[in-house]
Amino acid sequence: METWDALGSRRNVRSYSERPIAPEDLDRILEAARITPSSANEQRWDFIVCTDRRQLEDLSKVWDGAGHIATSAATIGLVAPKTDEGYARDSVHYDLGQATMSIMLAAADMGVGSAHAWVSDQDRARRLLGFPQDRFLAWLIALGHPADRPLTPIKHPKRRSFDDVVHRGRW
Ligand SMILES: Cc1cc2nc3c(=O)[nH]c(=O)nc-3n(C[C@H](O)[C@H](O)[C@H](O)COP(=O)(O)O)c2cc1C
Repeated sequence: METWDALGSRRNVRSYSERPIAPEDLDRILEAARITPSSANEQRWDFIVCTDRRQLEDLSKVWDGAGHIATSAATIGLVAPKTDEGYARDSVHYDLGQATMSIMLAAADMGVGSAHAWVSDQDRARRLLGFPQDRFLAWLIALGHPADRPLTPIKHPKRRSFDDVVHRGRW
């Protein structure tokens, strides 16, 4: 897919077909995450990829809005260091957002759907994924081939209008 088409086709896909993601495609998605830019190139992230159905079902209980994880073909957990310091905290979240978009665009490029999920129950997440005490599970990105319709460019995405969001020179 062309970059522009991948950008315009990506949408949160929360229902998935039975079709698995080929291991080389999943690794390519993870590679996209790995090469994402980060503040001072610190790469304060680890990616835990899960494909086991039972594990995915358990993982879907970390947050009320994470039900789609249970039926995903694979889910990537974004793990980051805990920090309260202002710049460190803000830049970690910025970096994770960039890694998320890398994952989602690499997936869209191959026709694979993706969906975010926040994580509320950190104790459950740590029990299931085994990451260290000084880290937290920031986000989950579910992946799978869409059950409804293939990814194609969305003509009228539900977004604020161009003129509303774009300010030229000054607000
Ligand atoms: C920071 C962030 C957190 C999100 N958390 C969730 C979530 O917990 N569960 C969920 O189903 N969708 C979640 N979403 C998906 C958004 O609702 C979705 O991206 C938005 O409605 C735009 O729709 P689209 O991605 O299909 O274009 C999240 C998105 C972002 C950027």
